[in-house]
Amino acid sequence: MDKFRILGREPLSGTLAVSGSKNSSLPAIAACLLTEEPVILHRVPRVRDIDTMLKLLEYNGATVKRLASGAVRIEARKISNPEAPYEIVKTMRASSLVLGPLAARTGTARVSVPGGCSIGARPINLHINGLEHLGATVHQEYGYIEAAAPDGLRGNTVHFERITVTGTEDLMMAATLARGVTVLDNAAREPEVVDLAGLLIKMGAKITGAGTSRIEIEGVAKLHGTEHTIIPDRIEAGTLMIAGVMTNSNVTVTECIPEHFAALMTKMRQAGARVEESSTAVEVRPVTRLRSVDMTTEEHPGFATDLQAQFMALMTGAAGISFITENIFENRFMHVPELARMGANIRIEGRQAIVAGPAELTGAQVMCSDLRASASLVLAALAARGESILDRVYHMDRGYEHIEEKLAGVGARIERIG
Ligand code: EPU
Repeated sequence: MDKFRILGREPLSGTLAVSGSKNSSLPAIAACLLTEEPVILHRVPRVRDIDTMLKLLEYNGATVKRLASGAVRIEARKISNPEAPYEIVKTMRASSLVLGPLAARTGTARVSVPGGCSIGARPINLHINGLEHLGATVHQEYGYIEAAAPDGLRGNTVHFERITVTGTEDLMMAATLARGVTVLDNAAREPEVVDLAGLLIKMGAKITGAGTSRIEIEGVAKLHGTEHTIIPDRIEAGTLMIAGVMTNSNVTVTECIPEHFAALMTKMRQAGARVEESSTAVEVRPVTRLRSVDMTTEEHPGFATDLQAQFMALMTGAAGISFITENIFENRFMHVPELARMGANIRIEGRQAIVAGPAELTGAQVMCSDLRASASLVLAALAARGESILDRVYHMDRGYEHIEEKLAGVGARIERIG
């Protein structure tokens, strides 16, 4: 199993370019199931979750090709197998994103019920309720959810009891081929939802309101092929920016859209970080002292849960007490005991982590438990005195493209070891 060896306290300098968004690419790939024509997606990152999703589409009957340019070409001329098997869903919950597209295109879909994962229960009841509102009959048997709509889906109003990102994406895709108008109420407003709507519109869908909490979709009979460039990964951009701040470095994070992580920018400034943004980059300048600030995760445009662990790593070195509240997932503090092994002073009380700083972090052997927890440990190791060994970095590989090469390219002492 791969590990990272990181020698901390090396100042970074130079440019860090952000890859395409993993969480935007996943629904975009699922959307290719909605048309028999080829779709070309540019800027799809080479990360493990994307490979898993592409494998799933091949299983469904699509032809998938990575082009020399790095783009992905997907052609789902026929859907031979409208199913997401357990083997794939257990490794990646987002594979339930094929539920809506398969039901809409073929009138039937079979998706393995996702189990829990290290960050929480991850149910998909809201996807299922939504599909039922669009006229599908859904039942669960033998560990699978089976949706049937032999006469096609029908537009309707779907009110989400709770905001769900992939639930909104799943239902938006399903509604593009439903008869009549669908309204998604209390929809997620994440940039990834807006990006997906942009792709679907290029494919011929009629969608308004993406980016607000009310999305309206007028169903069409068919969608067609197109080309689309995925938005930059806002979580990777935020992680790289925090790496610059935690190492007191002069770095520029490029090819990103700072507006997509405005809540993080605000907190960074409140903490005293010197971060200067343009429309496509963030410049980081060294500071000697950071102040603690409180932070609560929320749905977009609030502070992203996917940046909570990284922000906590930053707060370990800030002066004062920081209250960090996790509102989206019930078990997303797995990085806390590992950060504590590196000298951080953190106490957990229910949904809140209380970070007392500044702590002087020292290198240690630590274990990655999930994708964003791994990112926070990489950040802590870059800032710590001495050497750290991070075990189970396959979690990191799910969502960060060549992270060790990117960081080594600006002077970090990081290497992958077997
Ligand atoms: N929820 C339900 N029922 C549902 C769906 C969600 O109760 O049917 C609950 C969840 O348990 C959670 C909350 O609603 O407590 C929000 O979950 P959401 O559905 O929004 O999460 P998701 O769509 O499964 C996406 C990202 C996650 C990110 C969350 C929140 C993708 C592929 N995944 O997950 O990304 O944390 O939104 O922003 O877009 C990551 O990249 O590390 C990651 C976990």
